[in-house]
Amino acid sequence: MRLVQGLLEFIEKSPTSFHAVEQVRQELLEHGFQELREQEMWRLEQGGQYFVTRNQSSLIAFQVPRGEIGSFRIVASHSDSPTFKIKENPEKESSGYVQLNTERYGGMLCASWFDRPLSVAGRVMIRTDSGEIQSRLVCCGRDLVLIPNLAIHMNRTVNDGYAYNAQTDMLPLYGGPGAKGSFDREIASLAGVEPEQVLCSDLFLYNRMKGTVWGAQNEFISAPRLDDLECAYTSLQAFLDGNDRPGVPVYALFDNEEVGSGTKQGADSSFLETVLRRIVSSAGLPEEQFYAAIASSFMISADNAHAIHPNHPDKTDPTNPVRINGGVVMKFNANQKYTTDAVSGAVFREICRRAGAPLQTFVNRSDMLGGSTLGNIANSHVSLNTVDIGLPQLAMHSCYETAGVQDVEAMTRALTTFYNTEITTLADGSYRLS
Ligand code: CO
Repeated sequence: MRLVQGLLEFIEKSPTSFHAVEQVRQELLEHGFQELREQEMWRLEQGGQYFVTRNQSSLIAFQVPRGEIGSFRIVASHSDSPTFKIKENPEKESSGYVQLNTERYGGMLCASWFDRPLSVAGRVMIRTDSGEIQSRLVCCGRDLVLIPNLAIHMNRTVNDGYAYNAQTDMLPLYGGPGAKGSFDREIASLAGVEPEQVLCSDLFLYNRMKGTVWGAQNEFISAPRLDDLECAYTSLQAFLDGNDRPGVPVYALFDNEEVGSGTKQGADSSFLETVLRRIVSSAGLPEEQFYAAIASSFMISADNAHAIHPNHPDKTDPTNPVRINGGVVMKFNANQKYTTDAVSGAVFREICRRAGAPLQTFVNRSDMLGGSTLGNIANSHVSLNTVDIGLPQLAMHSCYETAGVQDVEAMTRALTTFYNTEITTLADGSYRLS
């Protein structure tokens, strides 16, 4: 339960990817990690613990071993979730109301965003009195906007299926006529500056509803952004648990998975590769060592998975039903949208066995396309044995998702064991775990 409470707190303090990275950053600093900047030369010390952020929305942390670099043990997850981004010049007057003009970020379940108090958070770039440009994270912290449904009497067939139009159906209500012109002031005051000092912003809607543990035996958790903050949090706990095995443990948290990862800070960027290269080169080792280390490394791509739905069991593969509280999920896909193959699957299954963590398997129905994730995308930059896993959940991409209490602990245990296991490649296809 301590882990679950920690997770819910982490989610509540992480309304956007910027805030999630800031939470992780603070926790790493508290644990004695040292912050690096990509813009500077790195002088890493043996036994040193470091992290670096990119765009304030992606983060990579690692620990330099006392011995040789050898290999990397990486767990990667994502910091972003589907939401609505607030456009430039957001105020839109309509019939005596002021609405905010927004656009979709990622593929959300639209219906879940209606009729609930929402708020605004993100990053504001300001001009300081001395003329510098600085970033401020802002979080409104009160119920500020809401997307009202159209009454059933005005949309009689809505329950037969409805195609939501992001421009005409989904703009949040912000205020009455008196609210006109106040949004920029509100944001500026959250950033602690005058409106004319605000140069630009990345602002998003978020669901303020607190996470909760519920069910006949308190077996379920529901919260916003479980995909993928549940993996971000559990992998962080495992990483911070410390380890004494040879090799470099790496914690990676990427932004923009929900929009295809193709940004300078996403999994489809140079970020991971650059950091791993710099770990090797700042230890004074030749490039040759980097290639050998990558070939000896292992990555876990941790992104939530679909549990079987009680009302729609037919949507799940007939021989691979995934159950909430059934443990960590390992994902397979013949077309390699998931990176798991017999090698990485075998290694991870053995790790879970040693951890005493229950493991289940996910495969899409053969007549259904699945979602994508970050493992195979990261592999196109840094190619190494990788397994795709996640925690079972319902209602993925709803603004209030549901998962299992016991799975949080199972995942943390499995990943702690992973970070504490040295995986040695004896020959192509032969491995020793110690
Ligand atoms: Co995800």
